Amino acid sequence: MRSFHLLYVLLHVACSTAASTPTSTQVLDGQTATLITFPTQPTDTGLKQIPDAAHPFIAPGPNDQRGPCPGMNTLANHGYIPRNGIATFEEITLAMVEAYNLEINFGAFLVAANMLLRGNPFVNKISIGGVSPLVPPLPGNIGSNVTGGLAKHGGFEGDGSITRADVHIGDNRNFQDLLYDLDLLYLGQFGDNGPDGNNTVFNVPTIIAIKRHNIQMNQAADPEFHFTPTRVAASFTEISFLLDVFANGTTKQASISTIGSFLRNQSFPQNWHRAAAPVTGEILGQTSSQLDAAIPIFAGHNDAQGNFVPDTPPPAPFDANPGCGFYYDLFANMPGGLANTTGIFKQNVDLLSSIVSAAVSGPPCDQPLLPFGPPDN
Ligand SMILES: *[C@@H]1O[C@H](CO)[C@@H](O)[C@H](O)[C@H]1NC(C)=O
Ligand SMILES: *[C@@H]1O[C@H](CO)[C@@H](O)[C@H](O)[C@H]1NC(C)=O
Ligand SMILES: *[C@@H]1O[C@H](CO)[C@@H](O)[C@H](O)[C@H]1NC(C)=O
Ligand SMILES: *[C@@H]1O[C@H](CO)[C@@H](O)[C@H](O)[C@H]1NC(C)=O
Ligand SMILES: *[C@@H]1O[C@H](CO)[C@@H](O)[C@H](O)[C@H]1NC(C)=O
Repeated sequence: MRSFHLLYVLLHVACSTAASTPTSTQVLDGQTATLITFPTQPTDTGLKQIPDAAHPFIAPGPNDQRGPCPGMNTLANHGYIPRNGIATFEEITLAMVEAYNLEINFGAFLVAANMLLRGNPFVNKISIGGVSPLVPPLPGNIGSNVTGGLAKHGGFEGDGSITRADVHIGDNRNFQDLLYDLDLLYLGQFGDNGPDGNNTVFNVPTIIAIKRHNIQMNQAADPEFHFTPTRVAASFTEISFLLDVFANGTTKQASISTIGSFLRNQSFPQNWHRAAAPVTGEILGQTSSQLDAAIPIFAGHNDAQGNFVPDTPPPAPFDANPGCGFYYDLFANMPGGLANTTGIFKQNVDLLSSIVSAAVSGPPCDQPLLPFGPPDN
């Protein structure tokens, strides 16, 4: 991840707000716009036991949305975001800050990118699972006639997950025991010793071995295996969450019982503490760069013969490095119609796009981008 330029975000927002006429209400296709705002960073950013008494685990009901991301499912199962799994930009950002002590600009980046890729930024709602009647299609069906949610393949959701199958060969939404059991074989081989026993604490060598195995296994098993630039970044970052976010904040240990609680039960462990200091994009970047160094993967896909071949590179300057490729790919997968909007809709798209740009752009690809992808992807 690149550095975060909050000042740039604020300036960009101030400019785009000044340039367009402020609109107090906007109704399109029977939907009423909700203006998205950047939430305020809470002052309390230290160690804290999570959950508090107000956030007990309650298993989801049949109509509650859950999806491919254990961290999101855990927030919903404890009511840090609405238990139905449909939430706003501000709700998810603040929940990640409170429960996981994610640094607010990094958290906001994750939610902003997903809202533009997989949510409805007009009404400010996204499903952490699949399609829901509570998240209408974008006005004018700018994306498609349904809004996908986090479980829709091709955004951050993609191939080579550590606990979900590839969409073309299995269940890409729910936890898969068999895949996790394979992961645990590498924990038994490379894990550190800890309170749960020998070789029970996840560390960098373990996550490298797991990730390498997931990629090799799925490249061989899934004829349509595709590791997009977004998926390369998402996949290495999400496994870094095990060490930097899910570890017990007091000991910094990601023990098998703690990780199992998040991944398998989608519940905070008993007596768990969030990280003692905000987890920034740089901290996660330091972990994921060790995966980058150990696993020589590039953005690519299987050809008809099952060989893994590189994707067509993006145009210059976005072909300069993987970070620039990721930046381009994010916006290339957001419906271009989002950029052709007015009023509150446009203000929301501009704010979310500027948050993504501030987080991911960097020399030589530092120009701001707006969504420019196909209607559906
Ligand atoms: C969405 O569009 C597809 C194909 O264009 C169509 O088959 C489907 O019925 C539509 N769904 C809704 C909810 O309108
Ligand atoms: C755990 O590891 C320690 C140090 O390597 C060793 O002394 C001990 O016998 C091991 N315990 C078990 C149960 O294998
Ligand atoms: C998962 O939940 C079950 C049932 O509450 C519990 O028995 C088990 O210990 C939990 N597993 C982990 C790893 O937390
Ligand atoms: C986290 O660490 C503290 C301090 O060692 C300990 O009391 C607590 O039980 C640990 N929690 C988990 C989930 O490991
Ligand atoms: C932009 O939106 C307007 C109004 O919906 C539409 O007429 C026009 O074709 C759109 N232009 C592009 C480039 O999508």
